[in-house]
Amino acid sequence: MKRRILSGIQPSGRLHLGNWFGAIRQHVALQEEGHQCFYFVANYHALTSGVDRDRLADSTLHVAAAYLALGIDPARSVLFVQSDVPQVTELAWFLNCVCPMGLLERATSFKDKVARGMGANVGLFDYPVLQAADITAYDAHLVPVGADQKQHIEITRDLVGKFNQAVGAEVLVSPEPYIVENVAVVPGIDGQKMSKSYGNTIEIFETPKATARRVVQIVTDSTPLEAPKDPARCNVFALLKLFAPPEEVAEIAEAYRRGGYGYGHAKKRLGEWINTAFAPARERYEELRAHPDRVRDVLREGGRRAREVAEATLVRVRDAAGILRHD
Ligand code: ADP
Ligand code: TRP
Repeated sequence: MKRRILSGIQPSGRLHLGNWFGAIRQHVALQEEGHQCFYFVANYHALTSGVDRDRLADSTLHVAAAYLALGIDPARSVLFVQSDVPQVTELAWFLNCVCPMGLLERATSFKDKVARGMGANVGLFDYPVLQAADITAYDAHLVPVGADQKQHIEITRDLVGKFNQAVGAEVLVSPEPYIVENVAVVPGIDGQKMSKSYGNTIEIFETPKATARRVVQIVTDSTPLEAPKDPARCNVFALLKLFAPPEEVAEIAEAYRRGGYGYGHAKKRLGEWINTAFAPARERYEELRAHPDRVRDVLREGGRRAREVAEATLVRVRDAAGILRHD
């Protein structure tokens, strides 16, 4: 069955391997399966961590160009910027008004960010409600994301239930998360979850040299070269597994266990895999960044198509809630 797919990604820094394996790769695959895909750059969400004009504008184009370079085809998928669809912030208000405070107080991403010292503004607190509006504005069935986003989809489902109950009709569609379990959490160079906010990423769009330098920094234990090693406990191996074909993964695992194969060898292999895997996308990316108008034309058309769908939802929502319009 063809389904409506939606996902967003914040323009808050350079995209990394975690974003690719945890999210973007599935976004491309779902497009290839022929689903109706809506993908957007969540620039309003990025504002919850502070205003930085030049950085936000540049990151927005970075993410859009990256999606195009990595395989999103604007003839088949709708690629747009969140803020080009004002219906979403309007819908967020409806959802705010059925959202119990306690639901947001329990949100782990909010608690984590505050624990890490990020100032708690109301936008950050309300982040999941804006995300619920993103999803429901387009009647999305499936939301492909990394495992860390699961709770946000659950909150969305809760809010859909509460809104539909409040208006006494099935106005909004309840979405399901789509999470690929074996790559659910890609480790960073320090072994924690790879994340822009931890400064431990390996970026997708880097030069081969910079990639190799970054890979060398992956933290390993101090087992000497000759000694046998446990691949299951090694960050380099965890990343290699994502790139190398199964036979090569098995060979490398065997070499780890046998001994005489050092972390340096594995790092060299990993750097080569990453550079080979992304070489064509990197070339397309550079070309698009050199021609920002091409990217913006795609976003303009994507925004137009996204607004049409979102406006149809908002007509139902306003009507169900008794909001009169006089335009
Ligand atoms: P970051 O943690 O770097 O800020 P985002 O929160 O912007 O990344 O994540 C964008 C998408 O990429 C989300 O769907 C998220 O689940 C996925 N993602 C991010 N980091 C990882 C990771 N280390 N492993 C798997 N998926 C990830
Ligand atoms: N919160 C998501 C993230 O940090 C980004 C996002 C915003 C999103 N709105 C969305 C993801 C709607 C899926 C659907 O990765």
